[in-house]
Amino acid sequence: MNPLPEGAFIGIIGGGQLGMMLAEAAHRLGYRVLGYSDAADCPLAREADELVVGAYDDEARLAGFARRAGVVTVETETLPARTLEVAAETADLLPGAGVVLMTQDRAKQRTFTAGAGVAVPVHRVVTNAGEAAAAARELTLPVVFKRATGGYDGRGQAWVERAEDAEAAWLSLGGGVCVVEERVPFAAEFSVIVCRDRGGNLAFFDPIRNVHRGGILRVSRAPAGIPAESAKVAREFAYRFAVATGLAGIACLECYLLPDGGVLVNEVAARPHNSGHLTIEACAASQFEQLVRIAAGLPLGETTLLQPATMLNLIGDIDEAALAGLEAAYPGRCFVHLYGKAPRPGRKLGHVTVVGTAEAEPPACRAGCEIG
Ligand SMILES: Nc1ncnc2c1ncn2[C@@H]1O[C@H](COP(=O)(O)OP(=O)(O)OP(=O)(O)O)[C@@H](O)[C@H]1O
Ligand SMILES: [Mg+2]
Repeated sequence: MNPLPEGAFIGIIGGGQLGMMLAEAAHRLGYRVLGYSDAADCPLAREADELVVGAYDDEARLAGFARRAGVVTVETETLPARTLEVAAETADLLPGAGVVLMTQDRAKQRTFTAGAGVAVPVHRVVTNAGEAAAAARELTLPVVFKRATGGYDGRGQAWVERAEDAEAAWLSLGGGVCVVEERVPFAAEFSVIVCRDRGGNLAFFDPIRNVHRGGILRVSRAPAGIPAESAKVAREFAYRFAVATGLAGIACLECYLLPDGGVLVNEVAARPHNSGHLTIEACAASQFEQLVRIAAGLPLGETTLLQPATMLNLIGDIDEAALAGLEAAYPGRCFVHLYGKAPRPGRKLGHVTVVGTAEAEPPACRAGCEIG
């Protein structure tokens, strides 16, 4: 495709912070942003040139949006199938509706990913109480039940220590389709982000080390400090996923590093990912810029990590004193991104990237403050 001319619209469905940062990248490349969200006061509203506010199942409004945008991407996979179909019928949607529909369902995603030659945790897909109980009997305990749809930041999950608790756990999650998996005794978590354009050209970001607490990503850093051989395996998995899906866009594979250096892929998101936020300051082209480039038909940018970086999520509320402490400890090296969201326990309100450091002990700990 010919590159989109400067000033052309890029459409973004979903109003969250990923859309906001995507819009920032689009602007840096000279494009305008037309957003679609069901909330007028969303993070994307701060950055989009225009925002269409409508329900995600308002087909007429969506079609009007997609027609005007011409090229459309999504910043969340949690969208109705019809939304994606309407966007794909009316505009150039990337990634394709099929990829988004597959990744939004944990069970479908697992099955697809494993089928593409990607190593995944030992698991079962269960659809009824009998299967839930059988999975807990057959797998090595403890196991975790994860709802196939609608879970994020550790929500929609229940750990089971005893097989007799399996049915109750399954019911507590609504009794629908679940993935049940064994606990992975990981040595570390990390992610890899792959970028693939419409012509099949590929670029990979270096692995990013991740620390979760309470099911929520707290800290990411690069370089990840994982064995080169493990990084190579993860990259190969990312390659397989991208090719198997015919991906046009970017995808992030959340990986476990096993004690023996092996790699298992926990889940995949075919969109910008929280762990990739540090690419804004640390890499030549960020994950957001890469997606804009792909949408606009521009050549892929350079993913090289230019400097070490650590990203800390700001969760629940913004602690101004902690941020000031961080800035005092790392003067001129802290980049604060606020999403304009109302405080709420467990909610991601922003993040701060500290460049020039990627130590195991996060900068906030060294600075003596509580972030991440
Ligand atoms: N089988 C498992 N073994 C060990 N730890 C696990 C397992 N499943 C999940 N976890 C831990 O919980 C975290 C969140 O799990 P997962 O990514 O499946 O949930 P999520 O709600 O989809 O999170 P998000 O979408 O925000 O990444 C993982 O990154 C890992 O730290
Ligand atoms: Mg996850």
